[in-house]
Amino acid sequence: MPDIIELDNVGMSFEKKGGIFRQNKRIDVLRNIDLNIKEGSIVAVVGESGCGKTTVGKIITGLLKPTSGEIRFGGKNLYGFSLTDFSRTRELVQFVQQDSYAALNPVRTIYQSLSAPIRHHYKNYSVAEVDDKINNIMAMVGLTPPEQFLSKFPHMLSGGQRQRILMARAISLEPKLIVADEPVSMIDVSLRLSILNLMNELNEKLGISFVYITHDLATARYIAREGNICVMYLGEIVEYGNVNEVIGFPKHPYTRALISAVPVPDPEVAKREKPIPIKSMEITPLENRPEGCVFFDRCPYADEKCKSRIDYAYVNGVKVKCRKTEELPEWIN
Ligand SMILES: Nc1ncnc2c1ncn2[C@@H]1O[C@H](COP(=O)(O)OP(=O)(O)O)[C@@H](O)[C@H]1O
Ligand SMILES: [Mg+2]
Repeated sequence: MPDIIELDNVGMSFEKKGGIFRQNKRIDVLRNIDLNIKEGSIVAVVGESGCGKTTVGKIITGLLKPTSGEIRFGGKNLYGFSLTDFSRTRELVQFVQQDSYAALNPVRTIYQSLSAPIRHHYKNYSVAEVDDKINNIMAMVGLTPPEQFLSKFPHMLSGGQRQRILMARAISLEPKLIVADEPVSMIDVSLRLSILNLMNELNEKLGISFVYITHDLATARYIAREGNICVMYLGEIVEYGNVNEVIGFPKHPYTRALISAVPVPDPEVAKREKPIPIKSMEITPLENRPEGCVFFDRCPYADEKCKSRIDYAYVNGVKVKCRKTEELPEWIN
């Protein structure tokens, strides 16, 4: 399958205001991000809060322009597109944000929120055609009968229902890819699975690719199934590859730490996991990110050479940003 989106050595820095002398400082939030999303695939992006996941999601969807590197859509540089092509691409790559309440206009009914982008895109649609489309997408996201929801305002719906409305709006313009940024973290635990299943269904039935952003390994594994997982730490991708290989046989010390820190639903994996003796429980602030390996400060296996530039190693098809993968102690019993 061809790639829909490629991030090629993407970097992002933000200006941080203030400081004691009121001087502004640029902080590199993302560094050397290489990521390919294949048509029809599901990629899970995992990492702790503040590691840059949302920033990656916004770059993929064209909401943020990276400060360095290139982003390609269908093989072509996104920022070389004409305005019309760029707008169309923005429709083909949708962003579903974490906070479903903030994402919907509180003074508009669900019908108004859903019909506006459809009318804007399908300019020659009659009212009946717009309504048809809305009924269709409502059925696809499991909100039936639609009349029960369309005249309501966002606050009258549950978090899970609002999240489904966001999915409906995202699929209304027939996108190729949806970036879902922590879509289940603000909804009831009992409803999470059904939203994850909905994404899997939309992937299977409509062939839409998903980038699923989360801080939670368990849901990442659940949704990626046979797909890829991308583990981020301090603005870098430290490990990327098949989800079963990465979670079953983690290769980067950070991935190991992450896995041993959370209960893994698979008893086989849980049995053989050994906590790694990381040096500090604190995440290093971005301002103090080490120049070489980003995990240097906390890694129990790091040595002097890890202070210089680290290239990716490839182990069983997995990309790992660690020069010591060969020497690390056995993880598997
Ligand atoms: N617009 C912005 N201006 C300045 N700093 C930002 C901006 N957006 C994000 N950041 C910083 O970038 C880092 C990564 O943020 P984010 O991508 O939201 O991480 P995550 O989604 O993994 O929690 C954080 O330190 C955050 O403070
Ligand atoms: Mg985020």
